[in-house]
Amino acid sequence: MTTLSKESPVTTHRLYMAPMKGFTDCVFRQAYAQHFRGFDLAIAPFIASKRDCPVRRRHVRDVWPENNTRLVVMPQILSKVATDFAAMANFLYDMGYDTVNWNLGCPSPMVASKKRGSGLLPHTDRIDAFLEDVLASMQGRLSLKLRLGWETSAEIQRLLPVLNRYPLKEVIIHPRTGRQAYEGRVDLDAFEACLATIEHPVVYNGDIRSLEDFKQVSGRFAGVSQWMIGRGFLTDPFLPHIIRTGQDRIEGRRLKLQQFHETLFHAYAERLKGPSHLLKKMKGLWRYLALSFEPFDKTLKKMKKSTKSEKYLGVVNRFFETEARLIRKN
Ligand SMILES: Cc1cc2nc3c(=O)[nH]c(=O)nc-3n(C[C@H](O)[C@H](O)[C@H](O)COP(=O)(O)O)c2cc1C
Repeated sequence: MTTLSKESPVTTHRLYMAPMKGFTDCVFRQAYAQHFRGFDLAIAPFIASKRDCPVRRRHVRDVWPENNTRLVVMPQILSKVATDFAAMANFLYDMGYDTVNWNLGCPSPMVASKKRGSGLLPHTDRIDAFLEDVLASMQGRLSLKLRLGWETSAEIQRLLPVLNRYPLKEVIIHPRTGRQAYEGRVDLDAFEACLATIEHPVVYNGDIRSLEDFKQVSGRFAGVSQWMIGRGFLTDPFLPHIIRTGQDRIEGRRLKLQQFHETLFHAYAERLKGPSHLLKKMKGLWRYLALSFEPFDKTLKKMKKSTKSEKYLGVVNRFFETEARLIRKN
């Protein structure tokens, strides 16, 4: 059995925490890193660039260094306007961030219909012009996070030769299209085709939910050494540690999850105004975390129906102490 305090890094792979807007904010990242190990870096959920006003400190509160003391963070910017992007990137550079990530993956129709996020992927010429302008005016380095395209993977094949002309830090690829959002299968053949063309370091991202998944994907793509995990670690917060050590037996899993939950609850209670915000945030977490346990529908319903913080905490703590059965046996 391993314990989290005795980490033995079996793998030299680098693991990235995926940006998950609504979930992995700085409060979450701090609480997570207090209880779990395994990630080398977190990409923060996107911050939209500012159109008609200068960037202010309050716009980038999620990445204030004092709010991010436990985990190395890279800020992410959502933008289609080079001057706005560069203004924010330079503001973040002055704050100490030597690399920022450009979001070219967001599939939300609200975002994509305005040619932002994955909605920009069919427009190779616009991306080309954006990179030309941004890289001429921003300090620091640029990392990209993108999908295969908005409609089809032909889009990324058109785009990669353009990306190869620019000095990018890395390209993170989630092998789905924007239209797919998070449905259907990841297209590993299309990802493999990208590897044949791309000249930048690549980070793979998509559907790594277990050590087995990691072994399969890292076995197939032996040239890749950087991996990003999102929903998989929200469901099983031990996953990065399990991947890093190569074995999935961990002592006291239930108690560790309970302690993490407790830390997060109190950290959000300090930050958020009023119990309804707090409970909304905490209940959201169970969308993923619940999948770690044998079904507990009745209790889950009780958690979701709680409108008072004490009631909610009582239900959750009783769950952890009595009913909770992790799907993975240990
Ligand atoms: C609720 C939610 C919020 C997300 N927020 C962001 C975001 O802010 N920026 C981004 O680049 N990707 C975002 N993503 C995409 C994830 O970073 C990741 O690419 C996706 O979940 C696939 O990885 P996974 O299969 O490991 O979860 C989000 C995904 C979800 C489900």
